[in-house]
Amino acid sequence: MKPIVTLTLNPSIDGAAQTHVVRPIRKIRTSDERYDPGGGGINVARVVQELGGTAFATYLAGGATGRVLDDLLESAAIMRRRISIDDHTRISHAVYERSSGLEYRFVPEGPVVREAEWRACLEALEDLDCDYLVASGSLPRGIPEDFYAIIADRADRNGFKLVLDTSGAALRRALERGVHLVKPNLGEFESMRGRKLPNPALQEEAARELVRSGAAEIVALTLGRDGALLVSDQSVLRLAAPDVTVKSAVGAGDSFVAAMTLGLARERPVADAFAYGMAAGAAAVLSAGTGLCRREDVERLYGEIKMNLPQPR
Ligand SMILES: Nc1ncnc2c1ncn2[C@@H]1O[C@H](COP(=O)(O)OP(=O)(O)OP(=O)(O)O)[C@@H](O)[C@H]1O
Ligand SMILES: [Mg+2]
Repeated sequence: MKPIVTLTLNPSIDGAAQTHVVRPIRKIRTSDERYDPGGGGINVARVVQELGGTAFATYLAGGATGRVLDDLLESAAIMRRRISIDDHTRISHAVYERSSGLEYRFVPEGPVVREAEWRACLEALEDLDCDYLVASGSLPRGIPEDFYAIIADRADRNGFKLVLDTSGAALRRALERGVHLVKPNLGEFESMRGRKLPNPALQEEAARELVRSGAAEIVALTLGRDGALLVSDQSVLRLAAPDVTVKSAVGAGDSFVAAMTLGLARERPVADAFAYGMAAGAAAVLSAGTGLCRREDVERLYGEIKMNLPQPR
């Protein structure tokens, strides 16, 4: 199996720490701080590796913080290609408040990317040899909204399948060209369709329409604790999420995308890959803070979900 390549245009250094109480003016002393390499595609690469696959992270990074991000990826043993930018990589920060059990998350908008820089990124992607390219996350300032659409256009010619997890105009533009797998959550899906989709029948019809029109071969609409809906030309399948104790919702979507893509890359049936994605999403909410998911949780939950899968006829 070729490595699963991920693309992160606006990565971050994800800091996390905890404190007793968050309040103004006084210094808030924190403890247990940790730093992880983050941003959609980088999270996907980390989960692919956790699950025993091989990932290759492509990302934009710059400044002193860009060098720290490189270091963190080196420590995580993730193969990578960095496209350098002038502006600096962002640092996100999450603080868990013990007194309330609430988490405060600060997420900067990140760098401004110059035209020469995003063009260099497009060029770097031309050299890739992969079966699956996962583009995940928002576009930083300076990158045109049809950036993912340009990549979608290339998928057939360059022989890869594009998995897309983004929102807004970047998502709409890419779907006009067609992608292999798209993973919106309900909010992203509704804003893409331009209307509320309050019940399963409406959600299913809207997802079928995407498949029919060629916007996506596979739609995985994720619904948080309500599970997820899979639509492809082969199958329509709605699965309930396993019942787990929620520690932190951080990383459920990225874990889902990583596991489902890995399942597809391993040539598992689409429904199985989807169930594997759900197991990873649920496993992510089991782990506190910026922790993504642990393999043993994913495999256990996958076993449980699979028992409820309809048997192939
Ligand atoms: N509370 C939960 N209990 C069980 N499973 C969950 C829970 N939250 C999420 N999941 C699983 O993870 C999948 C993806 O979660 P979700 O729909 O919240 O993604 P998302 O909104 O893209 O998340 P993110 O904020 O990470 O981008 C869900 O379809 C579900 O299978
Ligand atoms: Mg998401």
